[in-house]
Amino acid sequence: MENNMKKVYAICEKALHSGNLSKEEIILLLQCPEEQSDIIFQTADAVRKKEVGDQVHLRGLIEFSNYCKKNCEYCGIRGKNKSIDRYRLSQEEILQTAIRAESLGYRSVVMQSGEDPFFTAEILADMISTIKSHTDLAITLSAGEFSYDEYKIIKEAGADRYLLRFETSSEELYQKLHPDSDFHQRIKCLHILEELGYQVGSGFMVGLPGETPEILADNLLLLQKLDLDMAGIGPFLPNSDTNLAGAQGGTLINSLKAVAIARLLLRNAHIPATTAMGSLDPKGREKALQAGANVVMPNVTPEEFREMYQLYPNKICLRDDPAHCRKCITGKIQGLGRTVSTEHGHSLKIDRI
Ligand code: 5AD
Ligand code: SF4
Ligand code: FES
Repeated sequence: MENNMKKVYAICEKALHSGNLSKEEIILLLQCPEEQSDIIFQTADAVRKKEVGDQVHLRGLIEFSNYCKKNCEYCGIRGKNKSIDRYRLSQEEILQTAIRAESLGYRSVVMQSGEDPFFTAEILADMISTIKSHTDLAITLSAGEFSYDEYKIIKEAGADRYLLRFETSSEELYQKLHPDSDFHQRIKCLHILEELGYQVGSGFMVGLPGETPEILADNLLLLQKLDLDMAGIGPFLPNSDTNLAGAQGGTLINSLKAVAIARLLLRNAHIPATTAMGSLDPKGREKALQAGANVVMPNVTPEEFREMYQLYPNKICLRDDPAHCRKCITGKIQGLGRTVSTEHGHSLKIDRI
């Protein structure tokens, strides 16, 4: 044990200067006991400060449709879940929500939905060019898998960024959890997005049933291999409307370690303190911000729809209006001695923009 702790210190010392960690080293960090993991968080915090500074970028999250044709086993809005009401914001509601986000001081929005067949690439392109012509917002889309040509239409309409998590690096586990998706297609989408000039974000959930330390380490190495601009990591939270209702779910400590190691590996990528982290623990987002994260994505979806967009249970901010969340999160960020960025928060990888 003593010996392992020495190794953890040595790995952290090395990681201050270089993101080249081996799979064995990552597993060692993942397995170090909770009471000794502060050194990993402190190292990630130091790398975060050096690489991306003290600014925290805010992205206003607009959940514009909870229709989904897919049936990911863990997800509360999977198509086969008949116990939720479905909604779709109109183009006008979407535009007004984006304008509202900008007036609250956001420089960037994330437009997220299930894989809703109504929102074809053409309609999404129209949505994005409309928002672009009325605001100066940077726009991230997170609406699932499309073909090369479809992603191209959306990019040409003005989308800056795209989020598509690979969810797990294990092909076997991926196939088990995604009855209507293919792991290789998922990775192909990420390559297409990069080729088309999007700033690309991906990521995974921590604690999916069947996940091993090896898989978790491979998830982190896959983030690095993909050379992502943004990496989103959050705990898996079992949803009672799914077959995984009785599963264990991800823990805070493992999720924080995954965020911290992602910072060590990815250096200057944007890494959010995810809403799932805040839903697992009241201080989850703050803890992530002190363990490598530099982005928060507060919800700006109109209140009446929020209840219906619950991928997982106990989601925070369900009854808080966007102005309240904006103030709340600013207070939390400043309380940590950090500042809220007033810029678009584009990728820091120089070849991307
Ligand atoms: N718990 C935590 N995260 C979830 N997501 C979907 N369902 C859950 C859940 N039950 C995540 C997935 C998806 C993102 C939008 O939300 O990683 O990519
Ligand atoms: Fe649909 Fe995304 Fe949920 Fe899968 S994770 S069911 S694609 S909303
Ligand atoms: Fe929504 Fe704090 S961010 S209430």
